[in-house]
Amino acid sequence: MMKSEVKTSLLDNMIGVGDSVLLEPLTEDSFLENLKNRFDHSEIYTYIGSVVISVNPYRHLPVYTPEKVEEYRNRNFYELGPHIYALADEAYRSLRDQDKDQCILITGESGAGKTEASKLVMSYVAAVCGKGAEVNQVKEQLLQSNPVLEAFGNAKTMRNDNSSRFGKYMDIEFDFKGDPLGGVISNYLLEKSRVVKQPRGERNFHVFYQLLSGGSEDLLKRLKLEREFNQYNYLGLDSAKVNGVDDAANFRTVKNAMQIVGFMDDEVELVLEVVAAVLKLGNIEFKPESRVNGLDESRIQDKNELKEICELLGQDQAVLERAFSFRTVEAKQEKVSTTLNVAQAYYARDALAKNLYNRLFTWLVNRINESIKAQTKVRKKVMGVLDIYGFEIFENNSFEQFIINYCNEKLQQIFIELTLKEEQEEYIKEGIEWTHIEYFNNAIICELIENNTNGILAMLDEECLRPGTVTDETFLEKLNQVCAVHERFESRMSKSSRFLNDTTLPHNCFRIQHYAGKVMYHVEGFVDKNNDLLYRDLSQAMWRTNHVLVKALFPEGNPAKMSLKRPPTAGSQFKASVATLMKNLQTKNPNYIRCIKPNDQKTPHVFTEALVCHQVRYLGLMENVRVRRAGYAFKQPYESCLERYKMLCSQTWPHWRQGARDGVQVLLTELQIPPEEFSYGRSKIFIRNPRTLFELEDLRKRRLEDLATLIQKIYRGWKCRTHFLLMKKSQITISAWTKRHFQRKKYLHLKSVTLLIQSYIRGWKARKLLRELKHQKLCEESATTIAAYWRGFQARRELRRLKEEARRKHAVAVIWAYWLGLKIRREYRKFFRANAGRKIYEFTIQRIIQKYFLELKKKLPSMSPTETAWPARPYLFLDNTHTELKRIFHLWRCKKYRDQFTAQKRAIFEEKLEASELFKDKKALYANSVCQPFQGDYLEISKNPKYQKLTGAVEEKILLADVVNKINRANGKGAPRIFLLTQSKFIVADQKSGQIKSNIPVMDITSVSVSKQTDGLFAVHLKEGSTAAAKGDFLFTSDRLIEIITKLYRTIFFKTNQKINVEINNEFLVQFNQDKVCVKFIQGAQKNGNLPACKRKNNRLLEVTVP
Ligand SMILES: Nc1ncnc2c1ncn2[C@@H]1O[C@H](COP(=O)(O)OP(=O)(O)OP(=O)(O)O)[C@@H](O)[C@H]1O
Ligand SMILES: [Mg+2]
Repeated sequence: MMKSEVKTSLLDNMIGVGDSVLLEPLTEDSFLENLKNRFDHSEIYTYIGSVVISVNPYRHLPVYTPEKVEEYRNRNFYELGPHIYALADEAYRSLRDQDKDQCILITGESGAGKTEASKLVMSYVAAVCGKGAEVNQVKEQLLQSNPVLEAFGNAKTMRNDNSSRFGKYMDIEFDFKGDPLGGVISNYLLEKSRVVKQPRGERNFHVFYQLLSGGSEDLLKRLKLEREFNQYNYLGLDSAKVNGVDDAANFRTVKNAMQIVGFMDDEVELVLEVVAAVLKLGNIEFKPESRVNGLDESRIQDKNELKEICELLGQDQAVLERAFSFRTVEAKQEKVSTTLNVAQAYYARDALAKNLYNRLFTWLVNRINESIKAQTKVRKKVMGVLDIYGFEIFENNSFEQFIINYCNEKLQQIFIELTLKEEQEEYIKEGIEWTHIEYFNNAIICELIENNTNGILAMLDEECLRPGTVTDETFLEKLNQVCAVHERFESRMSKSSRFLNDTTLPHNCFRIQHYAGKVMYHVEGFVDKNNDLLYRDLSQAMWRTNHVLVKALFPEGNPAKMSLKRPPTAGSQFKASVATLMKNLQTKNPNYIRCIKPNDQKTPHVFTEALVCHQVRYLGLMENVRVRRAGYAFKQPYESCLERYKMLCSQTWPHWRQGARDGVQVLLTELQIPPEEFSYGRSKIFIRNPRTLFELEDLRKRRLEDLATLIQKIYRGWKCRTHFLLMKKSQITISAWTKRHFQRKKYLHLKSVTLLIQSYIRGWKARKLLRELKHQKLCEESATTIAAYWRGFQARRELRRLKEEARRKHAVAVIWAYWLGLKIRREYRKFFRANAGRKIYEFTIQRIIQKYFLELKKKLPSMSPTETAWPARPYLFLDNTHTELKRIFHLWRCKKYRDQFTAQKRAIFEEKLEASELFKDKKALYANSVCQPFQGDYLEISKNPKYQKLTGAVEEKILLADVVNKINRANGKGAPRIFLLTQSKFIVADQKSGQIKSNIPVMDITSVSVSKQTDGLFAVHLKEGSTAAAKGDFLFTSDRLIEIITKLYRTIFFKTNQKINVEINNEFLVQFNQDKVCVKFIQGAQKNGNLPACKRKNNRLLEVTVP
């Protein structure tokens, strides 16, 4: 974090000038001086604007560490010192963030460091792009494809110990997030001639040396190989070992890489078998053998090698042997076989070796592609990395160099197209003031080589296809004719004869003035190499092997697929693939790395100025700087510029409704950028100074951070609020549940407490009632006990008296008996014997009876009339007597009891008896009245002065005076009244004043009615027509109903000697005025004590609610 806040710049701690655009003064010398200065200080990278110049240090520099990767990651291009990582980062970010496909074009001559640069770019991108198991595997596979391809496609040359002998273009594919998905590798023209012959001081492809040095004994045995290099003709012997290169270790690296890329073990084995076969092919030698018919024939000298090759490839030895001896030509269904002489046999052998190896290489590339290809079909972003062989000028330049240099011309062309020409043209198109910069356009050289009518490649093809004798010389002749006038073509024999005297130009050569210098090509081998012919016998022989890989490499050997059509020539194939490549590159955003080789000795610290100067010239670097200096560092269409920076100005953010150009103008004005810093083109804004751009970028970055903070703030707010609402909801739910739980608990507690209190109160009430009842019972029992004691006392006194009387009587009787006995005995002595038995019997009986009586007297029960106990009888024969005696005793006891009563008490008992007869078992109220003594006058009217008037009105004795409730006939409501009963009438008077309300003779009463219940309501029915009956019958209620009615009943009986009717029923009729009203008793809730609640329902019904 901190690091990115420290503002750094390309200009910090700068050695020389980091960006040549800033060189002052700008001359070739100062440019070279600057490069040298920097090179001497281990600064190998220098910019020209956005182009990176890389000078090969030939030593390891500590500038590729992971820390460096981190340092350059996500930093602006000019923010730090020049580095290849800055370019890689810029390319990767614009691929990822701006969705622009990128290509990284690495140019420079052989040994300048292109391959190294391409690897650095790939490893940087791998380090900064996404991570994860799957992504890492893709990255690893992409990176590990390099060692495999280098082993098979690179070789030590004079210029470079690890020279790429093929062109390579790799598309790395990314998804929208910038994570690598896979890749596609295209390879261009492997220098296959190297397989059979290497220039002095150079080596064959690395893989041969690696296999022999690093292969295990076992492996070499399986492959039928010897470990010594000098056993093999195809291995350049003079430089078989390269300083600082460990072939054995590299072999292990390659095998490991193949495994990572996804090669199966058996695939690796197959590949190595082919490599071994190629190596062994070189050891097949031929000797001449003359035939009788004069034709030269060849014969294989030592067939052992052939045998082993055939064993390796699963081939029939005879087939291969024949293929090396004969050549079959097919024309118009005719087959002609010719024998091969020794030279032809060698040619065939080498052609086979080259083809085998070349096809193996192509197969390897395809196989790697299969492994690393992206697994998804989603749209991919692409970063292409082009590492193609550098410009080559050798002593002896052949077809390969011609092709390689042609390719470099094309690359230079695209560089010119995209940077110099296009840029300048753009300024003009955009109407920006501009002074044209002269530069060399190499289109003319490309034209010379690739023109379809008179280009060198076209001539070569023409020559190859021409019937008749075709040699390299005839080809040169043709060139001499067609290209002689071309200003870039030089030949000794050309028509223009400009070079007739140029002894540096041999006869069998032609020279081309390439953009990078003059190159002289020896025509020898041009036709052959262009034809790239492999005798059909050989390809068929290869197809017939049992080796799956070799068989697959030679599909045209299948007789079923045989075609007589010539395959396209090597030159035209290459031209086509270069054209495709160029087209591809033109669709992408180019990034340039221009590699420079500082010396020819491959040594560090040596900066050969002449050599560098040459490269600087032909690479057109000076022109490049000038164009950059004259122009603007940065240009962008208004739309995208506005889109990118509109957030920096309040007027353009978030929406600008007018034209993009106006928007950019407003934006730049508001940002107060000096006007000389930018120009307005027709469709683009041109920013002169990179620093201005960086300022804008910095502002944007800061603003983006602010915006991100804003978004973050809103998001966090939203998140917190959502979280809060959720918590609130949860809290409410929880508290609701908790409250519910506690309230429920509280309720249950209260309920149980209430129940407890309730039960205590009920218990207390019940106990109170019980106490009262017990007291009542005790009172009753006490009365009974007192009575019992009293009776007991009386009985005992009586008994004592009786006993005394009996004793006296007994004494008298005994005396009498004795006397009588004596008298009788005297008198009846003479008869005694005869009557003795009967007399004894009678006497005995008499004694027994006497004893019975005496015993009974002792055991007599209490005198209480309610007593039921009676002693058991002692003798059966006295049974009747005993029962009778019990009855007599009881009657006597009752009489005794009755005898105690006074007249008044008797009357009371009579009344009680009457009441019992009237109500017992008929009305429930009766039971309550039993224990109530009938007092009659409860009011003591005579003593109460309040009732003086009433006393005056009543002359007779008052039998009953009590307060009753008179029921109102109309509404059933009760009013307290004095109920007064005399011997002839009953009076109803006001309770307070004592004023008489009704005075009714008892004779006028016909009957009374009561219910069966415990209520105290009674109706007094009056005689019809009597004066008292005018208002109708009376309804009263009284607790002393039993007493009142009993008294009324007895009074009327005494007065009239007639018994009135007492109706006991739960429904009876009464006469109110003229109406007969039914009084009906219904069971209901208790309202006011024992008093019934009366309610006049209608004319016919009066409801009495009783408890
Ligand atoms: N950045 C570098 N740091 C250290 N050594 C380097 C660097 N670049 C190149 N070299 C050295 O230079 C040698 C040649 O580089 P490289 O193989 O990349 O050249 P090239 O341009 O690919 O040549 P060719 O066209 O022959 O393939 C490497 O083997 C390595 O030793
Ligand atoms: Mg290379």
